[in-house]
Amino acid sequence: MLEIKNVDVYYDKNQSEVLREINLQIETGEIYAIIGPSGCGKSTLLKAISGLTPYSNGEILLNKEKLSAKHHTIGLIPQNYGLLPWKTVFDNILLPLNIKNRQIDKAFLNYIDEVMEKLEISTLKERFPNNLSGGQKQRVSIARSFVLQPDILLMDEPFSALDALTRENIQELFLKIWKEQNITTLLITHSVEEAIYLGTKIVIMSPLPGRIIKILDNPVQKVENKRTSVEHLQIATDIRYIMTKEWKK
Ligand SMILES: Nc1ncnc2c1ncn2[C@@H]1O[C@H](COP(=O)(O)OP(=O)(O)OP(=O)(O)O)[C@@H](O)[C@H]1O
Ligand SMILES: [Mg+2]
Repeated sequence: MLEIKNVDVYYDKNQSEVLREINLQIETGEIYAIIGPSGCGKSTLLKAISGLTPYSNGEILLNKEKLSAKHHTIGLIPQNYGLLPWKTVFDNILLPLNIKNRQIDKAFLNYIDEVMEKLEISTLKERFPNNLSGGQKQRVSIARSFVLQPDILLMDEPFSALDALTRENIQELFLKIWKEQNITTLLITHSVEEAIYLGTKIVIMSPLPGRIIKILDNPVQKVENKRTSVEHLQIATDIRYIMTKEWKK
């Protein structure tokens, strides 16, 4: 279980807080989809969890141990993709595996090839990030986290730069990998539809300073025709009602 307990974040002492009293208890294998207005601190929350930004108060635990990149494997798809410009696409994908000293045998290389194939980036292996489109960079960043088999997966608007059809295909690929590996996931998205399609729970945040206003159970995970079900329409209406009421300036 991933526990975020009373976490506050300030970027510097003189600035007002960015995140206020964040509390989440995420059971292993759940997907929490987070929706919040632009600038409310969503990326900051993922950076705090992954250890890139210090938090001022509170604690973050994985299975009752303090979460740290040293002792745990944290998959992060940052909003800016986080690729190293001086490394090729393939070396970017291998980077976290090498940091973790993961054995890469023939079977694992085949798995990496398979994931790259599904993300349609196999032909880009030897290219450098600066010569890729935004959507291609995003798919490389997705591949890097998907092959890592992390303890937790943090995805910051991971499909935002993709065309509608590619996005749906990669959402399916994510769900397949998630089912195989039972990965505890936090997903940030601006799309209500995406949150409902992928989240087992949906978290709605307030404007700055970011607080959690509501955590909704998502019944859509259990129905057929997830994108068009009555349940989808119902929860989308509930989410839009909360956003309209709570995000007003
Ligand atoms: N390194 C930083 N130093 C100081 N302030 C920062 C820093 N990074 C972000 N902020 C501020 O913290 C607040 C939250 O930023 P954050 O990037 O977490 O928002 P967000 O919810 O991810 O927004 P978006 O939906 O636009 O991506 C914003 O007011 C932003 O200007
Ligand atoms: Mg952000």
